Amino acid sequence: MRKKMDKLKQILILPGDGIGPEVCDEARKVLIHVNEVYNLGIIHKEAAVGGIAYDTFGKPLPDETLEAARDSDAILLGAVGGPAWDNLDYQLRPERALLGLRAELDLFANLRPAILSKHLSDSSSLRAEKVQDLDLLIVRELTGGIYFGEPRGRSEDDQSAFNTMVYNRNEIERIGRVAFEAAQKRNKTLCSVDKANVLEVSVLWRDVITNISKDYPEVELSHMLVDNAAMQLVRDPKQFDVMVTGNLFGDILSDIAAMLTGSIGMLPSASLNSNNQGMYEPVHGSAPDIAGQGLANPIAAILSLAMMLKYSFNENKASASIEHAVETVLSEGYRTNDLEGNDDKKLSTSQMGSKIIERLN
Ligand code: IPM
Ligand code: MG
Repeated sequence: MRKKMDKLKQILILPGDGIGPEVCDEARKVLIHVNEVYNLGIIHKEAAVGGIAYDTFGKPLPDETLEAARDSDAILLGAVGGPAWDNLDYQLRPERALLGLRAELDLFANLRPAILSKHLSDSSSLRAEKVQDLDLLIVRELTGGIYFGEPRGRSEDDQSAFNTMVYNRNEIERIGRVAFEAAQKRNKTLCSVDKANVLEVSVLWRDVITNISKDYPEVELSHMLVDNAAMQLVRDPKQFDVMVTGNLFGDILSDIAAMLTGSIGMLPSASLNSNNQGMYEPVHGSAPDIAGQGLANPIAAILSLAMMLKYSFNENKASASIEHAVETVLSEGYRTNDLEGNDDKKLSTSQMGSKIIERLN
């Protein structure tokens, strides 16, 4: 197939704080490499986000950064936050940049795969047989629910605080469809997670999801209460294929799912809007305790790049080649500090990036 070269694809890299810059350096190396090998026509630039942006520009999400984000086809984000900014006002905290980007770009569909590499089944907190070949996808609604619901604030007498959990039909419907589409392409089972025994919002959620299921007769839909879902995830995670849930429940369940794979340093994520513009980021945070020491695992960032090539640019071959190179490196026993393994195969952050590039060849 001939490659369209008329329009260059624009990627914005937002390294952020802590280990963000280190892992983004490695993802950038891989990007430059595959861009050339597969003739992808991608250009990239960088901007400041998070605590570092606050230090330089006085805000975690500077206007220039937001503009650049709007102009880009896809964003690769490292991580934001750290103890240096923990005491800032809520509106100035580095995390606000993430929430701002999600809201401003309407990145409502958050895809968080939890895949266990067959070379790492001993890293899981569960027994290997419980998690062998685990491959589940959490679809989290990312721009609504209690994270963004109004009103929120403090009572006048400062004796109470409140947030609002709200979803409208349209918000539930669009994330529901993303989840059904994903399930359709996978093992055709979808579990919708809510708290319909207590929350009105969840009763609506369940209704809307059930309604959409009529358009996807091949997908087997089930509903599960969130407390049970948390338990089932650690009891028998392989019963799940795709899970769909709201913003807050998805935040919690995706951390549980991440831990099942043994290393949060391995997991990528995608946040997409309805134009397939996406922000891609490791599931891990900024890990300030190990920042700047070459100890971070760049694989989540590199796999986030692979997800970007697949979801935003349809470059499936280049994407698969990155995933394959990562598997090869792991099969050879190479590990970063966060993963158990032989000391003589321990690699620094940049050595891991370079090794993956070697195996791309
Ligand atoms: C996540 C994070 C964020 C969230 C924080 C940093 C705002 O925990 O992406 O899961 O709660 O969504
Ligand atoms: Mg989280």
